[in-house]
Amino acid sequence: MVEHFHGKEEVASSILAVGTKKIYIIKGMNIFSKKIYRLINSKRIFKLIYFFYKFFGEKDNGNIGFDFSNKPSRLKIVSDTVTRKKFNSYLEIGCFDNKLFNHINTINKTGVDPIKGGTIRLTSDDFFRINKEKYDCVWIDGLHTYPQVRKDIINSLKVLNDNGIIFVHDCLPNNVHAQRRLRYTQEWNGDVWKAIVEIRKDNNLDVYTLNADHGIGVILKRINKNQLKININNFNKLKFNDFIQNHKLWMNIIEYEDFKKIY
Ligand SMILES: C[S@@+](CC[C@H](N)C(=O)[O-])C[C@H]1O[C@@H](n2cnc3c(N)ncnc32)[C@H](O)[C@@H]1O
Repeated sequence: MVEHFHGKEEVASSILAVGTKKIYIIKGMNIFSKKIYRLINSKRIFKLIYFFYKFFGEKDNGNIGFDFSNKPSRLKIVSDTVTRKKFNSYLEIGCFDNKLFNHINTINKTGVDPIKGGTIRLTSDDFFRINKEKYDCVWIDGLHTYPQVRKDIINSLKVLNDNGIIFVHDCLPNNVHAQRRLRYTQEWNGDVWKAIVEIRKDNNLDVYTLNADHGIGVILKRINKNQLKININNFNKLKFNDFIQNHKLWMNIIEYEDFKKIY
């Protein structure tokens, strides 16, 4: 069955009813944009970016040595949390091949991605502009840059139910290559970590980083139990060397088993 939107929802192309669940496929990205996306992820562009950073970027300052191989996966952590807390609604920003999205068992699932996966074909900014729903659990895993993740967190907080949780993927990069703002490596975390450091200063948000799956930031709407007191205002300017020196204090790193005791 296919229904068509009119008026304000002109961005929407159709609703496909699959069983009892409706999947909203919204046209937000045309073939041209998809080609641009493929181009910026091509090997040739990766090489160019690599050489740009080699000459103009922060120098390679070694590996921190995070090892997530024996830690729980994001699939386990998010699906366990949704089940344990009896959550009814889930929002995923950045879905790709739906590896995580398909693993989550809840009644109301929304997945936002301009390229592939999920249920809504838009960027997170465009989605939040039209969204009217509230969510118990949000997984942020779209564009891994500090300015975008910061916006995704602010927008997610506005639509998060009071006892809900926001997860932020890729908060513990191992080296400067993985945390560059522009991607040129297969393993890419970006500088998401800066958004976690910034939000840890907020007394009304309790913020942690799970020592699992490239570092999973956790944001809860409750009094901050370990507020970060630092005199930094421009988080955009932080360097990977700052992260190497301060990540233990700044990121509030916790094992998943210990986190379950406090949430
Ligand atoms: C790392 S993948 C997501 C993986 C998935 N969440 C998982 O856990 O298996 C990142 C995805 O974010 C999407 N993305 C990039 N920019 C975005 C944006 N501005 N808003 C939403 N999604 C975005 C990309 O298209 C890509 O599919």
